[in-house]
Amino acid sequence: MNYRHAFHAGNFADLVKHAGLTLLLDALAADPAPLTIIDTHAGAGGYDLTGELSRRTGEAAQGIFRLMGDPEAPQPFQALKQSVRAGNPDGDVRFYPGSPSLIAGRLRPRDRYLACELREDDGATLARTLAPFAGAEARQADGYGVAVTEGLLARRLFVLIDPPFERADDYARIAAVMSDLLPANPGACIAAWLPLKDLETLDAFARAIEPIAPGALVAECRLRPLDNPMKMNGCALVIAGAPAGLEGPLGQVCEWVARLGEGRGRGEVWRLEG
Ligand SMILES: C[S@@+](CC[C@H](N)C(=O)[O-])C[C@H]1O[C@@H](n2cnc3c(N)ncnc32)[C@H](O)[C@@H]1O
Repeated sequence: MNYRHAFHAGNFADLVKHAGLTLLLDALAADPAPLTIIDTHAGAGGYDLTGELSRRTGEAAQGIFRLMGDPEAPQPFQALKQSVRAGNPDGDVRFYPGSPSLIAGRLRPRDRYLACELREDDGATLARTLAPFAGAEARQADGYGVAVTEGLLARRLFVLIDPPFERADDYARIAAVMSDLLPANPGACIAAWLPLKDLETLDAFARAIEPIAPGALVAECRLRPLDNPMKMNGCALVIAGAPAGLEGPLGQVCEWVARLGEGRGRGEVWRLEG
């Protein structure tokens, strides 16, 4: 496990994932019933963009710094911007919230949040990040396994799956989590973040989950044409059981982020068959 999210924190792909995450959490909170949230690949919880790892790639420059500098950015980014401002009370953007900070900050007293991280170092930071939040728990464990064992016990369930895609079987394991959970809990919402390198990988994943998650939303953001499969050319958020009304806001997010590329980017939201 070489992946460290600090290298990529606040980049264009985080904007799609985290703006999408805030939209999902706010929509799910419209229902007052208790919610169990499982974050299968949680990372460190939050990131210092002045730290060595972040500075080495500088990816946040074409991500969160562009967003925070654009007063005209569409409304669906407001919740993410607000969270970034709250984490940086002095004004300058130095700290960027990971999915755990965004989720923990939105927990209601009756909700439960399980954040899984396999790395010991990032897991320790994650545990410190979540310590102040009642209802939040950091676990050094395989998130796919926890999603299934704990998810099967939950009534209202939201699962975020955000692997590093270092292993060839990540797509199959995401599909397996969906097929283990959705028949037992058809009301569950499961969101998976995917890198976009070539189209066939996304299409193959869509074909694999279509029977399990018919009508799932795909929020797709391409920074550039997908003609170099060695590059991360964009990303997608695939959401089974998405609350109603998110197509428009997710589309605005993807379109804005697609303009951060060198041109010929494209953002759109579509649905799987079914
Ligand atoms: C893309 S990062 C997560 C970023 C985080 N979701 C966020 O948005 O802030 C993926 C993380 O998953 C961890 N990881 C890899 N395989 C895992 C597994 N099977 N279970 C739990 N964590 C895993 C990696 O160590 C890495 O920190």
